[in-house]
Amino acid sequence: MARRAWLALTLAAAGLPGLTAPTLGESEPGALRVLFPADRSVLETGRSELICVAPGDVKRAPPLRIDGKRGRWQPYALPVLVARLELRPGRHEIAVGPTKLQVYVREGDVPPEVAEWTVYGSHPGDADGWKDCRACHEVTAANGRQSVGTLREPVACQQCHSSEDFQLAHFHPEKPLAGCHQCHALHGSSAKSLLKAPRKQLCATCHD
Ligand code: HEC
Ligand code: HEC
Ligand code: HEC
Ligand code: HEC
Repeated sequence: MARRAWLALTLAAAGLPGLTAPTLGESEPGALRVLFPADRSVLETGRSELICVAPGDVKRAPPLRIDGKRGRWQPYALPVLVARLELRPGRHEIAVGPTKLQVYVREGDVPPEVAEWTVYGSHPGDADGWKDCRACHEVTAANGRQSVGTLREPVACQQCHSSEDFQLAHFHPEKPLAGCHQCHALHGSSAKSLLKAPRKQLCATCHD
């Protein structure tokens, strides 16, 4: 489903000079979506944010438990749910309502019991490891809560990733690739450069 939506976006973007960035807050009734971390993933650092999108019909944040203890949500407006994780190296269980995630924070070698799990990363945050949503999204505040909106790409990205850096990484004119999210999963990927699919497949959406 997500993949199809992404392809549709890509195809739409390929034909249009003005790219449409994805809008948020349009979650449907149904299951909670966890953007980060994935279930059964190995994390390089224990300091990161749990980010979820609650089903559209949910009116209150579901209970959060980290290793059995009550966790605290940051002040964000639904449907977005964010909690700061500070996990020691080793195995942990996170529960968001009935949704359970197992993660392993790595320190050196990965033990055999999690050898099948995937190493999972996301875009770096600030010096403390936390993400400033404003760096990439439009964010508004209401009732003391942050409401995370549209992705400001490519403008936001270009503030930190210069045209020179872009050239070195892509060897490609910048304009057609302005929809960075078409290829990069900044909220979580197990691939190098946080790619969403193998490089060939990504190029093939526009080139034979
Ligand atoms: C470095 C840039 C960056 C930062 C910082 C960032 N995001 Fe995002 N966000 C993205 C991109 C890129 C996408 C599009 C994801 C995709 O297409 O895979 C996105 C998508 C999302 C989505 C929608 C995902 C979906 O599948 O519907 C949510 C929700 C979200 N971000 C929340 C947050 C929150 C909350 C923060 C702050 C804690 C944050 N983001 C910080 C880049 C960023
Ligand atoms: C067509 C797909 C595609 C699009 C669109 C795209 N990228 Fe990339 N990007 C790639 C690929 C493939 C690589 C990996 C290059 C390599 O193998 O070294 C990459 C690498 C990068 C890197 C270097 C990552 C590293 O490991 O150091 C950055 C930074 C980056 N992209 C930023 C962006 C930004 C910003 C945008 C939007 C303005 C963007 N990309 C759009 C495919 C894409
Ligand atoms: C506040 C500054 C900042 C913003 C805004 C920002 N980035 Fe980055 N990004 C970084 C830093 C720092 C790194 C790590 C060093 C590097 O690879 O350049 C990074 C790394 C990356 C990587 C490589 C990650 C990896 O694990 O290999 C990609 C891809 C990327 N950024 C894409 C984007 C895209 C797309 C956007 C806009 C949606 C964006 N960035 C916005 C600062 C930023
Ligand atoms: C969103 C559509 C899109 C995607 C995805 C895309 N391209 Fe392109 N590409 C274009 C367009 C449009 C041009 C022509 C741009 C121009 O001439 O300004 C182009 C031009 C090129 C060129 C000629 C470059 C030049 O300097 O004239 C090469 C080579 C190329 N692309 C390779 C790739 C590769 C490799 C990938 C995957 C990493 C890729 N493209 C992904 C749309 C895309």
